[in-house]
Amino acid sequence: MKRVLQCSPVGVARTAVLIAAARANEQRHLHRLFDDPLAAGLVEAAGSANDLNGVRTLAGDHFVLRTRYFDDQLLGTAQPQVVIMAAGLDTRAFRLKWPPGTRLFELDLPGLLEFKEDALHNLGAQPTCDRVVVPCDLREDWATALIHAGHDPKRPTAWLLEGLFMFLPPDAGEQLMYWVSALSARGSTLALEHVNRAFRDLPQMRAVHERFDALDARWRSDVEDPVEWLDGYGWDATVTHQVDLAARHERPVPAITDPRKVGDARIWLASAVRTV
Ligand SMILES: C[S@@+](CC[C@H](N)C(=O)[O-])C[C@H]1O[C@@H](n2cnc3c(N)ncnc32)[C@H](O)[C@@H]1O
Repeated sequence: MKRVLQCSPVGVARTAVLIAAARANEQRHLHRLFDDPLAAGLVEAAGSANDLNGVRTLAGDHFVLRTRYFDDQLLGTAQPQVVIMAAGLDTRAFRLKWPPGTRLFELDLPGLLEFKEDALHNLGAQPTCDRVVVPCDLREDWATALIHAGHDPKRPTAWLLEGLFMFLPPDAGEQLMYWVSALSARGSTLALEHVNRAFRDLPQMRAVHERFDALDARWRSDVEDPVEWLDGYGWDATVTHQVDLAARHERPVPAITDPRKVGDARIWLASAVRTV
């Protein structure tokens, strides 16, 4: 039986609809970089993301490239447990071929996950792994909630932090990294996205900030050197540039990440291994 959707995502959770809309758009391409057959249905259930069309025009091709980058990172590491922080309308639990026995946790705000569960139910979605949702606020004590939900810190974990850090106040981002690291057995892996200050300050980003501020989804943090930052938490990190990713996948470099257009402004895409 179809469920009545209580309310579509609001506030910062609405940014999840924007990313899902970019994935739904990619799904229409013949030579797409990934398969996300649920994205369009989720966006429709949320009542579209047209209010964020300007952001998608600016960064949609980056969202597509980063999705493929993180898909490859997660499948390449094949850890027994996967934690997707700020999962939004991510459907990797349904669309990727996970090794048998993979347990995948999705963390996000309670309202977003309530909407997502009802919408996925109505779409008849079936996970390809053991999927567990953990409603929480990532500025608070999410680690206890994750352990109560069944995460085992003694086994390696693959963490994904995509489209999250910029929304967190700096101290909350540091606290989050502290707990991610504390719950990571040796050999755990991490894949993350962040931005530097020059990216936040780009003139092209002004309209995005205005739109996000109106949603109460203000960007609050940045990092200048993600490799050094992650090293401080015991992670050996590598950054991949969008220029290389685009070449690998025979796509144009997304303008918002093209050094010829944005200089030193960076959206960092990093992957890391736990070394301690
Ligand atoms: C830009 S979306 C990215 C969603 C998903 N990672 C993706 O790439 O499709 C940002 C997500 O962060 C979540 N988020 C932001 N602040 C949060 C917080 N304090 N606690 C939990 N989730 C948060 C939002 O609800 C939203 O789903």
